[in-house]
Amino acid sequence: MTKVPPFRVLLPRDALLRRTAEVARQIVVDHAAEPPCLVAVMEGARTFATHLARHLPWRDPVHEIRASSYGSGTVSSGTVKVLTGHDIPADGRDVLIVEDIVDTGRTIAALREHLLASGARRVGVVALLSKPARRVVPVDIDYLGFEIPDEFIIGFGLDVAGRYRELPDVVVYDSEVERSALGWSTLG
Ligand code: PRP
Repeated sequence: MTKVPPFRVLLPRDALLRRTAEVARQIVVDHAAEPPCLVAVMEGARTFATHLARHLPWRDPVHEIRASSYGSGTVSSGTVKVLTGHDIPADGRDVLIVEDIVDTGRTIAALREHLLASGARRVGVVALLSKPARRVVPVDIDYLGFEIPDEFIIGFGLDVAGRYRELPDVVVYDSEVERSALGWSTLG
């Protein structure tokens, strides 16, 4: 088994799962008349969307959409392109974008525009996490799990360069903690 560096836990798994269930319950109450079209933003939102869907009574699959913004770095490039998800049946539907985190807000803004252009009647946002301190584009989040401080977090689907998505908790990434735990050279 790969060793996991002792990163500081910001949100433990039980709190994440509990809040996810609460958010799901609210979505169900608000959409009693008609199931929304759920669109999860890959790759980060996969874990959150999977847990969320377990509490939803509808048969429709959670659709996947991909947008490029960060690449493998830790700073947003500022440009967001919709890469996949052009076949999502959004026409005439209430769409809910499911995100792991809203940071600058650029991804949500671009996806909202894309889905409205695809004919969605309304586009709402479900986000597990939000970092308001980082916002560049204003975003209305209809369903929010947790507001968090401006720290680089990983786990529960969130990564740094593809690593640590599988961690059960949301933890704070620290390259020094990682280096000392894994015995990496500071020159590497
Ligand atoms: C992250 C996250 C959101 C987006 C939020 O995705 O999953 O989709 O950034 O940032 P923003 O509000 O500044 O636009 P990322 O591009 O890192 O890809 P990933 O989900 O595959 O990790």
